[in-house]
Amino acid sequence: MSNNLLKGKRGIITGALDENSIAWKVAEKAHEQGATFVLTNAPIAMRMGEINALAEKTNSKIIPADATSIEDLTKLFTEAQEVLGGKIDFVLHSIGMSVNIRKNIPYTESNYDYFSKGIDVSAMSLHKMLAVAKKLDAINDWGSVVALTYMAAQRTYPFYTDMADIKAMLESIARSFGYHYGVEKKVRVNTVSQSPTKTTAGSGIKGFGDFYDYADAISPLGNASAEDCANYCITLFSDLTRMVTMQNLFHDGGYSSTGVSNEIMMKMGE
Ligand SMILES: NC(=O)c1ccc[n+]([C@@H]2O[C@H](COP(=O)([O-])OP(=O)(O)OC[C@H]3O[C@@H](n4cnc5c(N)ncnc54)[C@H](O)[C@@H]3O)[C@@H](O)[C@H]2O)c1
Repeated sequence: MSNNLLKGKRGIITGALDENSIAWKVAEKAHEQGATFVLTNAPIAMRMGEINALAEKTNSKIIPADATSIEDLTKLFTEAQEVLGGKIDFVLHSIGMSVNIRKNIPYTESNYDYFSKGIDVSAMSLHKMLAVAKKLDAINDWGSVVALTYMAAQRTYPFYTDMADIKAMLESIARSFGYHYGVEKKVRVNTVSQSPTKTTAGSGIKGFGDFYDYADAISPLGNASAEDCANYCITLFSDLTRMVTMQNLFHDGGYSSTGVSNEIMMKMGE
């Protein structure tokens, strides 16, 4: 279904690793809604080559960039404007990685080199992207930047370990940079706090399957899918939400406002 919500808009979409990635769905939806965009991911993530199929399907170019490298990001924003023929209107930050989670290290025993790496890749990369874009004046007035986050930034989920702190930082960067970029250029910066979703990053978390079912049973609408998340991101890239900025927006089927559901109560009584 296309309403051409993003007709004429140019974007940069990070983080499409395979067809389960939230970013993959965002790219498909943005294409459906009339946007043109470049796809980007860390050079190492491209070895699998799956992103080529998405590029072909959405008629978009791929510009590799490690989101921790100012040099790569400068090249990304410069080339994206050349390829797309003008300034950028929307950016999706869909990047997350914790070595502590990957290696199953408990939160209280976090390895600090891994912790720093996680911060750089998953949170500071948003600051770097915004700083590079602002320096190059690469984003149009009223442009929209969305980063994906998780509710462990507000409430404790023991298995989410250092990513909880990293997501809190990501959300704070969205607010802080959103202020400065808003005042200067009317550029909007928001985070979308998504339900647990079966992707490579999601499924890497210990006990993810059980937790996915638990969240589904708590949420009045059930867990929001990657496709639903993509639809929500499209609204945030569109002009229909032009006064929304510096917000952390829950996209979780009502999970974040529910204490307990009857379904869970019944399970506890079994
Ligand atoms: N899956 C979930 O349950 C869930 C829930 C809430 C929020 N999120 C967030 O959604 C975002 C996307 O994750 P996903 O679930 O689609 O998983 P995913 O594994 O498909 O995407 C993560 C992406 O980050 C990229 N990446 C890692 N290091 C990078 C670097 N140095 N430079 C550039 N890119 C790099 C990976 O290559 C990958 O494409 C993440 O921020 C994640 O934390 C996921």
